[in-house]
Formats: sequence, C-alpha cells, structure tokens
Amino acid sequence: MEITMTKVKDKKSIDLDKVEQQSSTDGAKIAIKDVKVWYGDFMAIKGIDMNIKPNTVTAFIGPSGCGKSTFLRLFNRMNDYVDGFKMEGKIKLNGTNIYKKKVNVEELRKEVGMVFQKPNPFPKSIFENVAYGLKIQGIKDKKFINERVEKALKQADLWDEVKDNLKKSALALSGGQQQRLCIARTLAVEPSIILMDEPTSALDPISTAKIEDLIFELKEKYTIVIVTHNMQQASRISDYTAFFYLGELIEFDKTKTIFTNPEKQQTENYITGRFG
Ligand SMILES: Nc1ncnc2c1ncn2[C@@H]1O[C@H](COP(=O)(O)OP(=O)(O)O)[C@@H](O)[C@H]1O
Ligand SMILES: [Mg+2]
Repeated sequence: MEITMTKVKDKKSIDLDKVEQQSSTDGAKIAIKDVKVWYGDFMAIKGIDMNIKPNTVTAFIGPSGCGKSTFLRLFNRMNDYVDGFKMEGKIKLNGTNIYKKKVNVEELRKEVGMVFQKPNPFPKSIFENVAYGLKIQGIKDKKFINERVEKALKQADLWDEVKDNLKKSALALSGGQQQRLCIARTLAVEPSIILMDEPTSALDPISTAKIEDLIFELKEKYTIVIVTHNMQQASRISDYTAFFYLGELIEFDKTKTIFTNPEKQQTENYITGRFG
C-alpha cells in the first residue's frame, strides 16, 4: 500500500495489525500521527494520520475553514506563534519528531520552505531577496551566494527575465514574477520540502500555468505540499490529494482516484461542486 490513512472515527473498527502497518512511517518524508490542533477551545484538526511520500506533490483540498492551512503550517511550526495554539500527536520529518523540545526551529525552516498566497517579496532588490536566507545564516562568501542566487532563479524559471536587472527592486516585478521570486528565495536555502498555501490564487492564468509547470519540475528534487481551492489545479499537478472537511481528513488517495472514483460520498459531493 503506498499511502495510508486512518480516520480517528474508524480506528475502533480496524484491527491492530493493520493499524500498525498503516502507521508505519517507512518511506514517508512526512509522517503525521494522530494530530489534533486547538485554537483556544476550538478544535481545528480532529485527529489526522497521513504519510507523505518523498518527491511527490500532495494537494490539500476542501471548503474554506476546514483546516488546510492549519494542517500545512504544522510542518514547519508556523502555528507556534498563534495565540491559543495547542497541538497533540506526532509529526516526523525524515523520521524525527519536529515537535520535540530540542528541535531547532530555524534549522527546521531551512529544511521546510514555505510559499504564501500573496507574493511577499521584501522591499529590496531581486538579488537581495534571493540571497536573504543565505545572509541571515551568516554566509559571506560572495561567489557562493552569487552561484546560489543564480541557481535558485534558474530553478524558479525567472533567471532569463531578471538576469540583467538583479539590482532592480523586487516590487517592480509583476505578480507572477514576484511569486516565482518568492519560490527562488525559498529554494536558495535548499530545503527538501516546500509548502505552498494557495500560491496561485492571486495570479492571472498565464502566471498560474507557469507556477504549475514549475511545481511539476520541482517535485523531482523536492517534496511539495500545496493547498489549493482550485480543483482543476489539484488534478493537474498533484500525485496525491487529501480532502479535508471540518478539521477531519475525509479521504486521502492518489489524485486520480479522488477525482474519478472517490470512496466517500462527501468527497464526491465536493469534487462535483455540490457543496463548498
Ligand atoms: N489564528 C487563529 N485563531 C483562531 N482560530 C483560527 C485561527 N486560524 C484559523 N482558525 C480557525 O481554524 C479553522 C481552520 O482554519 P484554516 O486552517 O485557516 O482553514 P482553511 O485553510 O481550510 O481555510 C477555521 O475555523 C478558522 O476560523
Ligand atoms: Mg487556508
């Protein structure tokens, strides 16, 4: 079995051997086990298990407010800053629980990069934006920084458009270029996982297509998890799709299965546009 999913509700009815097998983290890049999240008294994630395989694109879909962003932001501990945030359960990255006390969160975020909904370049030059992560790491070797910046801009498919204007303000770029710049900024510190929270929802169709092509290329080297409210996008670019509803993982399977032959009625209702 390539992916595993158990809903908290179903656990009682599953025999223990099977649970053991399903909860095995073998081969998982990110292994999530019985994770629950609260904001104050409100339970936003109600006990989710999921194994995310390396070098795949996993899409999170579901109606607004169902916990997609909350769940995604667990993987680089971005929720830690939120007042009233509390979590239970385990999230292992390459086998290590990232919620252990000893974890260095800065190191974790080098490993797990994030791209947000609205492109958010710094009000600095194109070059400085991409070099930023390296500089805050204390790297001073100019040749090394130049090489990394060029490599990241090439990976983000932006190099040809900006190579003669690296000193220009990032804010002068178009929205689509800014988002590719933010991807380059993330890639420059060489993460192995990239989280994207609705990265194209503020972009026009052509810029969106560019980012989608890029995601497809990047999965060769990275593990990508993307929240999208665009179901065509999920079906175009992802290998696996997770459907969330009211803080629960309703179904997680190969994208093709989710969109052609989902197991659960709720999933079918959602992907056929009957609610959400
Ligand atoms: N910082 C927060 N404080 C309190 N509640 C929050 C916070 N962020 C999200 N929530 C609540 O948690 C639930 C899940 O939100 P979110 O993860 O943003 O959903 P989605 O990304 O699927 O739209 C929603 O009910 C939302 O109102
Ligand atoms: Mg969200």
